[in-house]
Amino acid sequence: MSAAALARPEIRTLKPYSHAAWLPTLTRLHANEAPWRPAGDTTDAGLNRYPEPQPQALVARLAELYDVPVPHLLLARGSDEAIDLLSRIFLRQGQDAILQCTPTFGMYQVAARIQGADVLEVPLDASRSWGLDPDRLLAAWRPHVKLVYLCSPNNPTGNSLDAGAVEAICTALDGKAIVVVDEAYIEWSRSPSLTPWLARFSTLALLRTLSKAHALAGARIGALLGAPDLIQLAKRVIPPYSLAQPTVEAALRALAPSEAAASRARLEALIAERGYLQERLQASPLVQKIWPSDANFLMIDSTDPDRFMRKSMAGGLIVRDLRGYPRLPKSLRISVGSRAQNDALLDSLEAP
Ligand SMILES: Cc1ncc(COP(=O)(O)O)c(C=O)c1O
Repeated sequence: MSAAALARPEIRTLKPYSHAAWLPTLTRLHANEAPWRPAGDTTDAGLNRYPEPQPQALVARLAELYDVPVPHLLLARGSDEAIDLLSRIFLRQGQDAILQCTPTFGMYQVAARIQGADVLEVPLDASRSWGLDPDRLLAAWRPHVKLVYLCSPNNPTGNSLDAGAVEAICTALDGKAIVVVDEAYIEWSRSPSLTPWLARFSTLALLRTLSKAHALAGARIGALLGAPDLIQLAKRVIPPYSLAQPTVEAALRALAPSEAAASRARLEALIAERGYLQERLQASPLVQKIWPSDANFLMIDSTDPDRFMRKSMAGGLIVRDLRGYPRLPKSLRISVGSRAQNDALLDSLEAP
């Protein structure tokens, strides 16, 4: 079955909204826009104009960056919006479900529950550094599970999922479910993206984001990568002017080829900083265990999470308390910061 065949029938037959034609060489008297620029407008295109739906220049740049053909890519307002789109395309209230591997990123289940869909869970194996058991996942899968989420590297545990396990799942479920591999943190890992697998699996989808490695969390840009029929469906569902003009221009500037070397150097520096933070935290009596990380954060188990939180707050820093997750009763998540920020955290833990 193709991705489209798994979609909600209403979405397959939906007549999408027809937005104002994008013909930039003509004067726009067809979109009920104001003919003057607002005060403070520093954009090239003008904030008085609706932005280009799926702006071609940015689509082309990301297709190049992620090494996929243009028809395999949809831009969205962060990968959060891509998750929302997938939920709305595939999940029917009271009928369909997602399957997620816990503990994992919270938005998969929130988006599914908003849609009225069920959430099935397969636990990652803590005794194997939060490894994924493909047989266990496949045994839990049922035909009403339309979306299977695999987050690699996983938030909040930080580990990459074993490529062989992911491949076994993609092979077994191809045509039966959309296997969504969330690669939000892939740039911090040494494992390659699964983009080449898009040619092998018709119902594989990948999530990428500019929020993490490209330092554009405030711009809100992510991408859904998948088969062209999936991308076409998502184009029907996404609001017509999803990406704001300042955001698009900021992303194009940040992703200019002239910035690539500096960007790569910053990634490498942060990976080195992760090692530094890990080593220094290891020595703290407030730290019991640091889980291996392929991401830009460390998950730790603390000997005294309340004290850890209190001390870091007293030093003016906040880390993420993970104790709300089942099976993480003493875990905290620390984003790797600059050397000064990391030292400030380490100093705050040592303060009396
Ligand atoms: C695993 C994972 N996926 C997706 C997202 C959402 O990212 P975006 O900023 O692209 O919406 C996050 C954000 O923290 C995340 O951790």
